[in-house]
Formats: sequence, C-alpha cells, structure tokens
Amino acid sequence: MTDAAHGTVLVTGTSSGIGLATAVAAARAGFTTVATVRDVDRAVALRDAVARAQVKVDILRLDVTDADSVETGVRTVVERYGRLDALVNNAGVGHLGTVELTPLADLRAVMEVDFFGAVAMTRAAMPHLRASGGRVITIGAVRGVIGQPFNEAYSAAKFAVEGFMEALAPVAARVGVRVSIVEPGAVDLTSFADNAGGGDFPALIAAAGPYEPALRAYGDWVAGQLDLPVQTPPDIAEVVLRALTDPEPPFRIPTNDWARGYLGLKLADHDGMLVQAMTRRWVSPQ
Ligand SMILES: NC(=O)c1ccc[n+]([C@@H]2O[C@H](COP(=O)([O-])OP(=O)(O)OC[C@H]3O[C@@H](n4cnc5c(N)ncnc54)[C@H](OP(=O)(O)O)[C@@H]3O)[C@@H](O)[C@H]2O)c1
Repeated sequence: MTDAAHGTVLVTGTSSGIGLATAVAAARAGFTTVATVRDVDRAVALRDAVARAQVKVDILRLDVTDADSVETGVRTVVERYGRLDALVNNAGVGHLGTVELTPLADLRAVMEVDFFGAVAMTRAAMPHLRASGGRVITIGAVRGVIGQPFNEAYSAAKFAVEGFMEALAPVAARVGVRVSIVEPGAVDLTSFADNAGGGDFPALIAAAGPYEPALRAYGDWVAGQLDLPVQTPPDIAEVVLRALTDPEPPFRIPTNDWARGYLGLKLADHDGMLVQAMTRRWVSPQ
C-alpha cells in the first residue's frame, strides 16, 4: 500500500460528519471508496456531498454492531474490488451522563459501537489487509486519552480502542499491516453532540439529582471553551488521508497542535493528579 490510484478503502459511519468527509476526500484522492452506512435510505447528505464533489463512492449498508452485517460488508468489498487496502474505523457514538444515572444497557451500547464495532471490523478486515499490506486507521478522541467528566461511557470505550490498537500495532506490523489512531479534539458540524444526548441539556439537568451542581458547572465549562480551536470534518479527513498515504504513518496522530499538547499532559502525568486537578475544575463553580 498505498497506491492511491488502486487502493480500496472501506470507511464506517459515513452518513454524516467525519466519516462522510473522509469518504469524499478518499474518493477525490483516487481511492476506490466504499462508504458504509447503517441505513442506505438515510444517506442523503452523503449522496449530496458525493454529487457536489463529482466523485464516485460505493455506498454499502453496514452496522458495526451486527456480526452478519460486518462479515457481509467486508466480503462484498473484496468480492467487488478484489482487495481491501485500508479500513477506516470511524463509526462512533458519544454519551453524556454519569454511572449512577445511566442504565448499564446504555453503557454497554456505547461500548458495542465504539469498541466492539471497531474490533469486529478490524477482525473481519485483517486477512485482506495482510494480503494487500494495508492499514487500519481508527478515529479515536482526546477523550479516549484523558477521561472527560460526564463522558464516562464514551471515554471508557475510546480508552479501550486505544489499548486495543496500541497492543495490536506491533503484531499487525509483523504481518505487514500498519495501525494508526487519529485523535481529534473538538470537531464541529457533525451529528455527534446531538447523538450523545447533549442536544437536550436541560433534560439531563432535570434528571441529574445530586449531580446537578457538577453537571451545571460542566455545562458552564463547556460553554466557556470559546478559544478552543474547533476543527471541521474536512480538517479531520485531511489528517486521515495523510494516514492513508504516508509510507510510515505514526501510531498516534493528533489532528492539530492543541490535541498534541493536550495528549502530552497525560503522558507527563505519572500519578494521574495533573489530569485530576484539571478535570475537577471543570465540574466546580468557575
Ligand atoms: N465530533 C467530535 O467532536 C469528535 C471528536 C473526537 C472524535 N470523534 C469521533 O469521530 C467519529 C465520527 O464522529 P462524528 O463527530 O463525525 O459524529 P457523527 O456525525 O454522529 O457520525 C457518527 C457516524 O457513526 C455512525 N454510526 C453510529 N452507530 C453505528 C453503527 N452501529 N454502525 C455503523 N455506523 C454507526 C452514524 O450513523 P447513523 O447516522 O446511522 O447514526 C454516523 O454516520 C466517532 O468515532 C467519534 O467518536 C468525534
């Protein structure tokens, strides 16, 4: 890999946001691009973006939490194009809440998409990536390196993905497959916040009970993050494209200088108290 003129890339979760932008960018760069969605009838924004960009994208149904769908999706790509050169694990969901207020089933559901979804896709793709000398690129998150208050389920699932991919990378390298994880900070213009339940913050506050003061403080902290450099899906797609084409992509790829600096905090925080001092401020009166 990766001769863009011949490479075949499969991207998960392309109905909106980063996945949609990545699919369009990959097609524009010359990849044979298979953009997968849970529901092809709801891929309206993707179809519009593909038409606007005047590129060719193969839209395929694939739910990363459904074993049959994962297996059929990967098999279909290989039958259709004869190879698979790259998997982009992008499908993901957020979750806002805290353990005492969240049914276990909801916590498991986040894990199913963000962690087991990426694992199932990687597992199905590996034989084909070994054959092509391909690569696995996963969209992580800075919240998957530093635990964010009221994001316990999401941080846990993304931490799990980090550990999984970090442990897999050296093993995969021995069989010719490169593994990278792309780490965005804040990304605007995606459906992520709404899907995470952040769209109805007053309802969360109303149900927060003893956690109400901390949740209010967290909401104020989020609202106060005005100077945080926010990226767009095309910005992240550009980073994914580099990971797809770089002959030796790094394992961990922060998407901007802010994310690089933020991740650095964790690496220097040997007893965990630097991060605790920071995040405790986010749930206290400002
Ligand atoms: N937005 C941010 O600030 C941010 C920051 C860091 C990392 N990320 C990560 O970036 C990735 C993309 O998120 P985004 O911001 O672009 O949000 P988004 O617009 O909500 O996109 C998420 C995509 O995942 C899909 N998806 C959800 N469950 C799925 C399943 N079971 N099977 C297949 N696809 C599924 C969604 O499809 P449906 O339309 O069918 O639900 C949607 O296409 C996620 O992994 C997220 O954790 C986002």
